Amino acid sequence: MKVVSLFSGAGGLDLGFKLAGHEIIWANDIYTDAVVTYRLNIGQHITNCDIAAIPSAAIPDCDIVIGGFPCQGFSVANTKRHTTDERNMLYKQLLRVIHDKQPSFFLAENVKGILSLGGGEVFNLIINDFKNLGYDVNYHVLNAANYGVAQRRERVIIVGCRNGNKYTFPAPMYSRDGNNGLRKWVSVKDAIGNLPDPDMPNNLANHEYSKYKLNFNGYIGHRVINPDLPAPTVTGRGDDKGGVVILPHYNGKRRMTGRELATIQSFPIDFKFSGTLTSVYRQIANAVPVKLAYCLASQFNLIETA
Ligand SMILES: C[S@@+](CC[C@H](N)C(=O)[O-])C[C@H]1O[C@@H](n2cnc3c(N)ncnc32)[C@H](O)[C@@H]1O
Repeated sequence: MKVVSLFSGAGGLDLGFKLAGHEIIWANDIYTDAVVTYRLNIGQHITNCDIAAIPSAAIPDCDIVIGGFPCQGFSVANTKRHTTDERNMLYKQLLRVIHDKQPSFFLAENVKGILSLGGGEVFNLIINDFKNLGYDVNYHVLNAANYGVAQRRERVIIVGCRNGNKYTFPAPMYSRDGNNGLRKWVSVKDAIGNLPDPDMPNNLANHEYSKYKLNFNGYIGHRVINPDLPAPTVTGRGDDKGGVVILPHYNGKRRMTGRELATIQSFPIDFKFSGTLTSVYRQIANAVPVKLAYCLASQFNLIETA
């Protein structure tokens, strides 16, 4: 399929689509560091500006529009969330592009917190907006750990199909205990245990960590990590010293490096992030895990278009 990608960030979702054999023909993000990262690793087809400033005529026709629309306004990790947060309205840009380009499919990703915002009203509104564009709309909450990602990250995936096409969500391939013919969840130790000590000489990109003090107080980003389970959701909020809400390493002695978090997010080891440590952490945390994106994207290869 020919893919148009909005809110592309560093490109976790896009890389999954690319690896599944689709062609990303156009992408956009307002965040310059993420765009530099994207160009370095995925392709030159990304534009760097506010999506609201781009007329639909400047966006090529495509088979699918994909986008993880900005979630800060929706996230449960953001204590200031409220229904009038203007960032929530950016999904209207996604609607506008889908309306004007009329692709056969769209796929949108968001945090689980979007389901409960405004007592569920906001999500209903969003789903109805998509349906009113003439799409058959389905959504699922998927846990990345069930798709081989070393992280218990839950995200809402919304898929729209036109013209009688049907999309099937990927079935879980992993489970906590590995029962019923499924494989056992990949643990954080399985994923990053073989990476070199960042305090010793090594040649890995982004293998630096925030020196922000560790304080195991039970809050998000301040909990002891169990090496034998997938990590909790990778978060990326930071300050100019490089990261306040950054997961600690399971050794309990320091925070994780960008490379470790990127590996937990299932980015390939040679995927390099551009920008300051704070920016690298943010790009990584914003991303759809590449393996989950690949599983979602592969399901489109099974559709015989009507
Ligand atoms: C959740 S992230 C998407 C991450 C991406 N799907 C991935 O897998 O790597 C949302 C992105 O929306 C971008 N964004 C926010 N406001 C925007 C705007 N007005 N125009 C274009 N991009 C915007 C942010 O810079 C951020 O990279």
